[in-house]
Amino acid sequence: QSNKLILCADLLDLTDDPLRFGEDSVRFQAEGALVIEGGKIVDRGTKADMLARYGSSATVKEYENKIIVPGFIDTHIHLPQTEMIAAYGEQLLTWLKEYAFPTEMKFADYDHAKQVSEIFLNELLRNGTTTALVFGTVHPQSVEAFFESAQARGLRMIAGKVMMDRNCPDELQDTAEQGYQETKALIEKWHGVDRLSYAVTPRFAPTSTPEQLNACQKLLQEYPDVYMHTHTSENVAECEWVKELYPNSQDYVGVYEDAGLLRKRSVLAHGIHLNDREIDCLCRTETAIAHCPTSNLFIGSGLFRLKELHSRGVQVAMGTDIGAGTSFSMLQTFNEAYKVQQLQGNRLTAFEGLYLSTLAGARALDLEGVIGQLEPGCEADLVVLDPEATPLMQLRLQNSNSLHEKLFALMMLGDDRCIFQTYSFGQLVHSI
Ligand code: GUN
Ligand code: FE
Repeated sequence: QSNKLILCADLLDLTDDPLRFGEDSVRFQAEGALVIEGGKIVDRGTKADMLARYGSSATVKEYENKIIVPGFIDTHIHLPQTEMIAAYGEQLLTWLKEYAFPTEMKFADYDHAKQVSEIFLNELLRNGTTTALVFGTVHPQSVEAFFESAQARGLRMIAGKVMMDRNCPDELQDTAEQGYQETKALIEKWHGVDRLSYAVTPRFAPTSTPEQLNACQKLLQEYPDVYMHTHTSENVAECEWVKELYPNSQDYVGVYEDAGLLRKRSVLAHGIHLNDREIDCLCRTETAIAHCPTSNLFIGSGLFRLKELHSRGVQVAMGTDIGAGTSFSMLQTFNEAYKVQQLQGNRLTAFEGLYLSTLAGARALDLEGVIGQLEPGCEADLVVLDPEATPLMQLRLQNSNSLHEKLFALMMLGDDRCIFQTYSFGQLVHSI
């Protein structure tokens, strides 16, 4: 008895970076089919071919007027900030003090962390996000709760406990030594278990002493394939503060560089106010940037220079940055990324938006060939999109001609309402 599953719909993904190679990177197959077995995509082709080859011994699902794309990848998000999304009126440093820190204190309670983890994962899956790089809180139990919930659902997720040993409330402070020990224990317990990975997570330079950043480097040396996840150059006042706190480093990115934290699998959120040297450094060290447009606009941080960073060779992907970001939807995140580029005289195509939400995320996380594409060998993490989920979308889509026009309208107007179904490792994990 075969356990193959065949999903029949239009298929859309990227074979490479459309910011570099344009529409040559776009792979669209009308009336296609994916063959899934053991959690992975094992074959793809036309519906007719796949049914002829495997149909007699497989479960077949046929979708009408739907498009299958790779599951979305959110390269920067905060679990504990789920409950304080849409907090009024402040910019970064006061926003942290007034809203983020008090909320994060509640995660000392494991039961609270567990309850929020469930809601958080439901929300990711309702929005078609199948992998995320996640900030916990300083409390190891925030990450325990999150990994337990993600493991129970078979998801590919990356997370870490926050390390911060200064410039924050006492209740949220660890020390260089305590942060090191707690992180080490979490790596030993969770990294590489099922589809879970660990990210060493110093919050940002202002809340870590140089000793703590050194402890982070020690962890990266001991566990070379863990991730490193932090923030950089988000807000002007933050950048000024970093200069005062780290007078011996050349600049903000230089603080992380000097500590030995930049390499492949390092992801820095934001990167708005970077100088030339910092951009070169990110490129040289293969450090990725998570662009978080809804957050950058909501807390007034600035306009990310996506085209410049990308053309200079920096790996850029997208993140929601919940709770400074305002939507769990990568479609809505692209909607705002598009506007941020418009304000700078640049255009992002819908294909570039899909790339930033899928394959670019996989590349930023060093997971190309594992997730982010509809490719045999990749894990079957997928979204079944309904491009006509609302009356307005129906009208707009019916008045679209090209694939690009349809996809662009879908990405501008779409949100969780057009995430018809979400699959993770070949399992249905959300259905409208
Ligand atoms: N910089 C340091 N911490 C945070 C945070 O929680 N959110 C955002 N947006 N920026 C940060
Ligand atoms: Fe953030």
